[in-house]
Amino acid sequence: MESKRIIISGATSGIGCEIAKLYITNGYKVGIMGRRIELLNKLKEKSPENVFVQQLDINSDDATTNFQFLIDSMGGLDIYFHVSGIGYQNVPLDYDKELRTAETNCKGFTRMITYAFNYFAQQGKGHIACITSIAGTKGLGASPAYSATKRYQNHYLQCLAQLSAIRKTKITFTDIRPGFVATDLLNDNHHYPMLMKKEFVAKEAYKAVAQKRRIKVIDWRYNLLVMAWKLIPNCIWERLSIKN
Ligand SMILES: NC(=O)c1ccc[n+]([C@@H]2O[C@H](COP(=O)([O-])OP(=O)(O)OC[C@H]3O[C@@H](n4cnc5c(N)ncnc54)[C@H](OP(=O)(O)O)[C@@H]3O)[C@@H](O)[C@H]2O)c1
Repeated sequence: MESKRIIISGATSGIGCEIAKLYITNGYKVGIMGRRIELLNKLKEKSPENVFVQQLDINSDDATTNFQFLIDSMGGLDIYFHVSGIGYQNVPLDYDKELRTAETNCKGFTRMITYAFNYFAQQGKGHIACITSIAGTKGLGASPAYSATKRYQNHYLQCLAQLSAIRKTKITFTDIRPGFVATDLLNDNHHYPMLMKKEFVAKEAYKAVAQKRRIKVIDWRYNLLVMAWKLIPNCIWERLSIKN
């Protein structure tokens, strides 16, 4: 039987790199993308014949051309897994950090996800998975652009899931929402409680995609937290001092 083909954006480090390793180990044809080509090439060494490398910046105009080039070199695509993202704690509200986050997590995300949607719609089927965050489930004042852009991602995936139903395409969507994970993204000298290992989060994400889960919060403690903070009325929430 032909092996399934998956492309992962943001496979150079952190959660995306661990997810890529799992798909490689499980016999998939794996396309890996990101800006740091040397890290992609290192990952390819794990299984040179099954791993396909494409240097790609999701904020660049040629991103979709490069994405299509990778799809073609793999002979097609079954799953697109969007992991690329940036974020900052930004209590001083640095303007550049906010704009850069919006650019990558909204514009870059939309560029890649809409391309994957249209590709799968034309093909008649496919699966789009994304690492968003629990940060999108409530407005977090300590990281405004990060929290708001993750909300955008949650919402956009829901819009496309409904659009897929309207257009009667067979596209599956999985929105994966982890709490804090020990990766470079949080390497900023702040203290983060309930920190999870990236290997654990990748395994849970892999399982959620295999089970075609629509939404998966990782882990159960964060699931409880999200349920609890959704119950807090906005007038109280906006007075809380939540920061790390
Ligand atoms: N760490 C957490 O606590 C946590 C929690 C929930 C959700 N997440 C989400 O998980 C995802 C992965 O983050 P991480 O924690 O694993 O941090 P990370 O190690 O910093 O990984 C970020 C990944 O995104 C890629 N990326 C960033 N900008 C890009 C661009 N313009 N074009 C292409 N790729 C780009 C990076 O690749 P290059 O730099 O090589 O391009 C890297 O592979 C992010 O979307 C993040 O929001 C993280």
